Amino acid sequence: MLVSAKEMLNKAKAGHYGVGQFNINNLEWTKAVLQTANEQRSPVILGVSEGAGKYMCGYKTVTNMVNGMLDELNISVPVALHLDHGSYEGAKACIAAGFSSIMFDGSHLPFDENIEKTKELVEICRGKGLSLEAEVGAIGGEEDGVVGTGEFADPEECKKIADLGVTMLAAGIGNIHGKYPENWQGLNFDVLAKIQEKTGDMPLVLHGGTGIPDEMVRKAIDLGVAKINVNTECQLVFAEATRKYIEAGKDLEGKGFDPRKLLAPGTQAIKDIVKVKMDLFGSTGKA
Ligand code: G3H
Ligand code: ZN
Repeated sequence: MLVSAKEMLNKAKAGHYGVGQFNINNLEWTKAVLQTANEQRSPVILGVSEGAGKYMCGYKTVTNMVNGMLDELNISVPVALHLDHGSYEGAKACIAAGFSSIMFDGSHLPFDENIEKTKELVEICRGKGLSLEAEVGAIGGEEDGVVGTGEFADPEECKKIADLGVTMLAAGIGNIHGKYPENWQGLNFDVLAKIQEKTGDMPLVLHGGTGIPDEMVRKAIDLGVAKINVNTECQLVFAEATRKYIEAGKDLEGKGFDPRKLLAPGTQAIKDIVKVKMDLFGSTGKA
């Protein structure tokens, strides 16, 4: 059964480790992440962007696919199904479709409007036992059509959003979606420390998990980050493993063109990277 992300993230924050959110795109992605979480005995959050939701034929298809896998793969670790960077309309649609966790990304809106819409969604999610993530500041780069300016979050604004009763808070601290540029300045730990001071026990969320050096991830966890989002890295390893398979001509040998064979190396590569991340974040063995 899907669960809200609240309990797993509160435990992670108290225990000084992080829970990974891994974005899913199709059946192979979902199966790879769920099986790895089960093998690692790690709680996990499946992230679904609005674009990925559309690609997978809509949010109800996603919910049904995930629930079917939880049951038929005997997944016995906590799993949250989470809308990633959702609009107000997307949030309502995912709540109706049976998601257990929602991100409302109002970071591009005027702050008062971000407050107003987040507040409304806090009430709805609370009534249904769902977790809600809000965003302040902006994550740089682009993810599935969501473009961010990379503006640092204002710790006072973070406090105002946290006080609305959200479950977790994403704050821009120099993190970027996609690959980090050569001249990246790194995460701003001064801003993160101030946000943590203002928001107390609130689990903080680190977006743009692809390519952040391990020691920075560990330091961010020390400073209150309890959820780390990884998307691009799974796509990169999937593409690389699939390319190798095709370039080696494996698809031309025997029944190597069978989609179940063709997609297997990429799926295994996702499993491998998810395991590495769970070990790094410290969530392995915490379920
Ligand atoms: O919301 C999802 C992420 O923030 C993932 O970022 O694609 O850079 O790993 P990433
Ligand atoms: Zn993100």
